[in-house]
Amino acid sequence: MARVLSGVQSTGVPHLGNYLGAFRSWVSDQDRDDAFFFIADLHAMTVEYDPAELAPSTFEQALGLLAAGLDPARCTLFAQSHVPEHPRLAWIIECTITYGELRRMTQFKDKAGGQETVRAGLLTYPALMAADVLLYDADRVPVGDDQRQHLELTRDAAVRFNNRYGQTFVVPEAAVPAYGARVMDLQEPTRKMSKSDSSPLGTVLMLDPPEEIDRKVRKAVTDTETEVRYDPPTKPGVSNLLEVLAAATGDKPETLAAGYRDYGSLKKAVSESLVEMLAPVRERAERLRRDPGEVTEALAIGAQKARAVAGPTLERAMRAAGLLPPAGGFAR
Ligand code: TYM
Repeated sequence: MARVLSGVQSTGVPHLGNYLGAFRSWVSDQDRDDAFFFIADLHAMTVEYDPAELAPSTFEQALGLLAAGLDPARCTLFAQSHVPEHPRLAWIIECTITYGELRRMTQFKDKAGGQETVRAGLLTYPALMAADVLLYDADRVPVGDDQRQHLELTRDAAVRFNNRYGQTFVVPEAAVPAYGARVMDLQEPTRKMSKSDSSPLGTVLMLDPPEEIDRKVRKAVTDTETEVRYDPPTKPGVSNLLEVLAAATGDKPETLAAGYRDYGSLKKAVSESLVEMLAPVRERAERLRRDPGEVTEALAIGAQKARAVAGPTLERAMRAAGLLPPAGGFAR
C-alpha cells in the first residue's frame, strides 16, 4: 500500500481551488492508500496573523476537511503543531538545503516582495514542508500546481540527505490532478484563486450556499467574443470555467466546449455542477457544527497515529546526522 500525505494551511476559508486541486483527491486516496492529511498551522505564523484567530481557523480547516469527505477511520487527520517531530526535523532539513534554494522559491518571492522585514519563517518554510512530507515516508503527495516547486525542493533535500548521511528518507512524488490543479479567480482569470488575495466575488468558497455559487459563476469575467472555446492564453476566463467543469464532471475541457453555444449556457452548467458537487460537503459541515466534539476527537486520535510514524523517522534522521542519542532515544 502506498503512503500518501498532504496538508493545507490553517488560515483562510477553503475555496474551490483547494477542493478541486487537493481535497477531492485526498478523499479518494483514503480508500486506496495509507493516507495522512494535516492542517499546517505552523505555516500560518510565517506572515502577520491574529493569535486569537489561529486556533479557531485550525479547527475550521479540520471541520472543512471532514466535511469534504475525509474519514478519521480511513485516514489520519491531524494538526501540524500537535506533532512536535515536524519542527524538529525541519531544523535538520534547514541544515541540508541552502539559502540560495530557499530564496529562489516563487511563493517566497511573491509573498516577500523584496521586503527585509518579512519573517525568517517565510523563507525557511519549505524546509518545514519537506519535513512534513519526509517524516511519513510518503510515496505520493497530492497537491495543486502551485506546490510543485516546494515538492521538487523536498525531493532534492531527501536525495541530498540520503547521499550525505546514508539511506534515510523515501523520495516522494507530487501528484497533481489533470484538471482543477490551478483554478483561477473568476473575476481575474489570470490570477490563481487564493485564500489570501483573491476578490470575494472571484472566489467560490467550498461552503458557499447554492445561491452564492450561482451568483459568483454568473458574474465570472469572460471576454467580448461569444464563442465557447478552450484556449487558456487568449480566453482565460472561459477556459477557466471549462476546466472547472472538466474537473467537476470528469470530461475534457475541449470536448465540453463543443456542447455550449454561448457563455450563459456554459455558466449555467458550471453553476449547477458545482452546486451538486458541493451540496453533500455543506450538509456534512452543518452536521459537524452541531457536534464539534467529533472534530476535536478526530484531531486527538490523528496526532497519536501521526506521532507513531513520525517518531521513528525523526529518530533515524537524527542518528544518521550524527547527533548523540539521549538515553531512551530522541523521539520521546
Ligand atoms: P495551501 O493551503 O495554499 O493549499 C492547499 C492545497 O490546495 C491547493 N490549491 C489549489 N489548487 C488548485 N487551484 C487553486 N487555485 C489552488 N489554491 C490552492 C494547493 O496546491 C494545495 O495542494 N504549503 C501548502 C501546505 C503544506 C503542504 C505540506 C502540502 C504544508 N506542508 C506538505 C503538501 C505537503 C499550502 O500552503 O497549501
